Amino acid sequence: MSLPVDRIPFNQVHLTGNELKYIKQALADGHLSGDGAFTLKVQSLLREKTGTPQALLVHSCTAALEMAALLLDIKVGDEILMPSYTFVSTANAFVLRGAVPVFIDVHPDTLNLDEGLLEAAITKRTRAIIPVHYAGVGCEMDAILQIAKRYDLMVIEDAAQGMDASYKGKPLGTIGDFGTLSFHATKNIVAGEGGALYVNNTRLRLHAEILREKGTNRSAHLRGEVDKYTWQEVGSSFLPSELNAAMLLAQLEAAGDVVERRRIIWARYHAAFQELAHARKARLPTIPADRVHNAHIYFMILANLEERDRVRLALLEEGIVASSHYQPLHSAPAGKKYCRTHGDLPVTEHAADGILRLPVYPDLSEAEQTRIIAAVLQHV
Ligand SMILES: Cc1ncc(COP(=O)(O)O)c(C=O)c1O
Repeated sequence: MSLPVDRIPFNQVHLTGNELKYIKQALADGHLSGDGAFTLKVQSLLREKTGTPQALLVHSCTAALEMAALLLDIKVGDEILMPSYTFVSTANAFVLRGAVPVFIDVHPDTLNLDEGLLEAAITKRTRAIIPVHYAGVGCEMDAILQIAKRYDLMVIEDAAQGMDASYKGKPLGTIGDFGTLSFHATKNIVAGEGGALYVNNTRLRLHAEILREKGTNRSAHLRGEVDKYTWQEVGSSFLPSELNAAMLLAQLEAAGDVVERRRIIWARYHAAFQELAHARKARLPTIPADRVHNAHIYFMILANLEERDRVRLALLEEGIVASSHYQPLHSAPAGKKYCRTHGDLPVTEHAADGILRLPVYPDLSEAEQTRIIAAVLQHV
């Protein structure tokens, strides 16, 4: 009789120790809505950690992207350059304002926007570029900023996966006009649902805090700068509750240990799978020398969809949950309706078909990782 094998999930939230303590403290304080002591502490920690002049805690990275679209005053027919290989929110936030996402192909090694293709896709209607830092590896930001400057475009870094990663020493999310981060339960640092908007363009700072607070100057009122707060501008409610902020504070305080443990797991996979790369059975990720990554994802690209699904199912039979990733947006029903592509996207399509992501989380044991490595080497 064969013994049941322990299942290794694809992802698992890691609790760092102080989450319940801080949540209980928030309950005891009696301040459960947004912008209490925990939110302020998280925002100041994010500013200290990254050097961004303004970090606004919001309820998701989706919310941060929607705020960026509103702050840019995006209008019907405006065009936004972005990869098709991304999460729906990158495009959706702009489609909500009537804009047209224009999809650019990605680099085969990092799966980040291919900056060499940007210039040819710019038209009179182009307003912004959205580099998505896939897997917590920075895009080629110097080249992107140069193009943005030349054509007077705004840059919004989708750094949903970018916490604790940097490009040429600069934390991801702090390089463009805006950075949007995610603290969703699948990310390195989690609040359950949560996100942050980094407003690096100081011209938009006051507008950003008004927009986030239902269009009012309540933030200025809380700082004692105005007696009463009033409706100033168009806005909405983007604040998370203090319960989420309390959870997030515990996570952020332990972020250094979390990223270190993830990098160890990532590096062990990378060393073990070199033989697959040499035998040309799989393409492994590349971290350019001027970037520090955060080990958010370990992926390999197999020959095609059939091969990827064969390996994924073989791993599943051994109790190991590996995963594909984004369905390219240009091939999705809404992508066809609301967006357009700049040329063909062969690298995107090949990567989306062939990608296999392996479990990476701090509580993955050495024995579990040994099992995963052995199974991948056997089946690929
Ligand atoms: C690249 C990218 N952008 C945006 C998001 C949306 O993040 P959230 O779930 O915090 O709204 C995700 C989520 O996985 C993502 O991967």
